[in-house]
Amino acid sequence: MTHGEAEAESGPVQVRGTVLTVRRVDAYYAMTVVAPGVAARFRPGQFVTLAVGGPATSMLLRRSFSIHDVRPDHGGTVEFVFSAQGPGTRWLAERRSRDIVDITGPLGRPFPVPRDPVSCLLVGGGYGSAALFALAARLRDRGCTVDFLLGASTGDRVFGALTARRTGRTATITTEDGSLGARGIVTDMMGQVIHEARTDVIYACGPMPMLRAVTALARRYDIPVQVAVEELMACGIGVCMTCVLPVVGSDGVTRMVRSCVDGPVFRGEQVRWDDAGTIPFDAFGAPGWEPRARRAAGLSGAGAAAGGPPARKDGQWRPT
Ligand SMILES: Cc1cc2nc3c(=O)[nH]c(=O)nc-3n(C[C@H](O)[C@H](O)[C@H](O)COP(=O)(O)OP(=O)(O)OC[C@H]3O[C@@H](n4cnc5c(N)ncnc54)[C@H](O)[C@@H]3O)c2cc1C
Ligand code: FES
Repeated sequence: MTHGEAEAESGPVQVRGTVLTVRRVDAYYAMTVVAPGVAARFRPGQFVTLAVGGPATSMLLRRSFSIHDVRPDHGGTVEFVFSAQGPGTRWLAERRSRDIVDITGPLGRPFPVPRDPVSCLLVGGGYGSAALFALAARLRDRGCTVDFLLGASTGDRVFGALTARRTGRTATITTEDGSLGARGIVTDMMGQVIHEARTDVIYACGPMPMLRAVTALARRYDIPVQVAVEELMACGIGVCMTCVLPVVGSDGVTRMVRSCVDGPVFRGEQVRWDDAGTIPFDAFGAPGWEPRARRAAGLSGAGAAAGGPPARKDGQWRPT
């Protein structure tokens, strides 16, 4: 097999998938689609996009969903979990067995897994927890221990609590209304879990504010953290730049990277959470950006000298 062929084998595919089941799981829906090419290429942390609305629709953009599980049945099935919150997801919730859906995947970079058998803490918020179970299985296969910390606003929005209790070494649940597990948010319990589990690595998937708070705590404990972000995405394949996020590279330079192809998994401490949704003035290529060497040599232009206010992604200036 040539290098090109191997790459083609591992890249995403767009297929007409057959819906196997759509079932209610508490506050969410779980859809299983027969999509052998997608299932065969999947690695935990990746996502799929689906066309919604049928052949004549005004919903032009595909919708993104983290892959929850893949199975070998029917040649390869893909399952994802979603909240029916807008027209596209409501349309998906109305699909029935044997309907055809246009599905593309797997997309994005997966979660990296440790080389050694370490203690892993998996933190999930809402439907974000769904992305963590395939990862947990992969980590266990590598001899790692897995502790779960899952939370949501209410008990019916905590996805996978039973499975986490059955398969994790420990499973800690939090809800804001106290209807399941401890009352509060995941970060309230994180310190205690880290101490008890002697956590070496943290993985997290959920709403952006949760990922930001998990990253801040992980930094305090000096534990590496991998987060799967959920930025607004239009194309999902790296061409439109809708999903860009300011991320600091190992060279110390901030770049606007595309969450869909450079992510959705990032090292939490490299994401500039305070600047998400903006283009910081010191990001590579931002208006007024100059190489550090040039700035250090005092050769900066007027914009940079004035401190160059950060630009918003929509092109407006934000007051500093
Ligand atoms: C990488 C990734 C993984 C995701 N995984 C899941 C998942 O596992 N389960 C789930 O329920 N949802 C997930 N989402 C969010 C999901 O894509 C949106 O909820 C969905 O597109 C909303 O479509 P809608 O037509 O129902 O709602 P609308 O709000 O009408 O959507 C209109 C447009 O906004 C975009 N959009 C709206 N909300 C979001 C959002 N929160 N994030 C990104 N784009 C949004 C839609 O893609 C669409 O283009 C994920 C998003 C991303 C980027
Ligand atoms: S969604 Fe288009 S580049 Fe990422």
